[in-house]
Amino acid sequence: MSTQIKILVGLLFTFLTCLPIAVVTYNDLGRDLGMVGSTQKSVIEQRADALSGRQIEVGADLFSQFCIVCHGKKGEGISGVAPALNRKDLYDGRYLKQIAWGGNAQTFLKDTVSGGRPVQSRPDLYAAKMPTWSNQFGGPMRPDQVDSLVSFLLNWKDQAPEINAWPPAGTPRPTPTLGPTPTPNPATANLHPYCQNVPASFQGKTAPYKPDDKAALAAGKTAFESYCAACHGLGGRGDGVAASALNPKPANFTDKEFMQKIPLDCHFYLVSESQPGSQMPPWKALGEDTIWKVLIYERNFSQ
Ligand code: HEC
Ligand code: HEC
Repeated sequence: MSTQIKILVGLLFTFLTCLPIAVVTYNDLGRDLGMVGSTQKSVIEQRADALSGRQIEVGADLFSQFCIVCHGKKGEGISGVAPALNRKDLYDGRYLKQIAWGGNAQTFLKDTVSGGRPVQSRPDLYAAKMPTWSNQFGGPMRPDQVDSLVSFLLNWKDQAPEINAWPPAGTPRPTPTLGPTPTPNPATANLHPYCQNVPASFQGKTAPYKPDDKAALAAGKTAFESYCAACHGLGGRGDGVAASALNPKPANFTDKEFMQKIPLDCHFYLVSESQPGSQMPPWKALGEDTIWKVLIYERNFSQ
């Protein structure tokens, strides 16, 4: 054999050895890199599916523990007690349009389940009151449990039957819930609306720093300028570069009268958790200590 032919045969064997390795690599890695055909799911997608499947299972479990007594085993509703939740118009936008809800089905379900309907919208139709579920509003569930319930409900969307939605045609529609309706309480009547129902876990919290603690104020300034000033403005006047796109706009922290309507514990609560539907992000990931320093700095604008 000539040298050239030997080289050719050698190359051929090398190629044949590499081929199976290439196939194996392509299948495993290819999925992760998104190179695999669109009908096959990548490993990441499969994991995401498994995770959301798990969330739906958790939600189904919670639903059977807490919701079927009023809404029925399959969400079909119980006449005179509570409306059907397994019904087409709740998920395809028709119902939300009728009650003038600004968000989508997910935000509607999340807010309604979290806050409940402390004030019944149709006491004439349903004897029961929709309880408050999230512990953010004094209910028994953690926010992630509410999220699981919402995933479970949303899972009905494709097959939900066309039920003659409640209330029957011709009667007025219920008003949407925007968070819990505060029960009038003379002690909090003068406070900012967001401060009238501060969750128990935040009530009475006090700052670990004095309002004139120089080190805390300096650290608070740095954090405020990094995380808050874009919307609230460097001087706290609600005129940050991003403020023009916000509705409602952030308030003016230099306004003493306004700041008096936000007691310290509520201030800490609002910055940590924000409010459902608000464009203000919840900041609890900053950690309690940093939040207190920012608060001291923020309150200093109106001193
Ligand atoms: C004690 C009875 C009761 C229980 C338990 C209950 N609900 Fe309700 N729910 C109601 C009533 C009554 C309404 C209608 C309230 C109104 O508008 O006044 C309602 C309304 C709703 C709505 C809004 C439906 C619409 O068409 O506007 C959702 C979503 C909902 N409930 C989800 C749940 C989930 C999830 C659970 C379990 C965690 C649950 N409910 C447990 C009584 C209950
Ligand atoms: C993306 C813009 C944005 C950022 C960033 C932001 N906020 Fe807000 N914030 C808002 C908006 C908008 C409101 C008004 C919300 C409403 O009324 O629903 C608000 C409201 C508030 C309020 C209640 C008083 C009011 O204006 O109604 C406090 C207190 C507050 N923010 C503190 C902070 C702090 C502290 C930070 C930084 C850690 C921060 N915010 C970062 C947009 C922002």
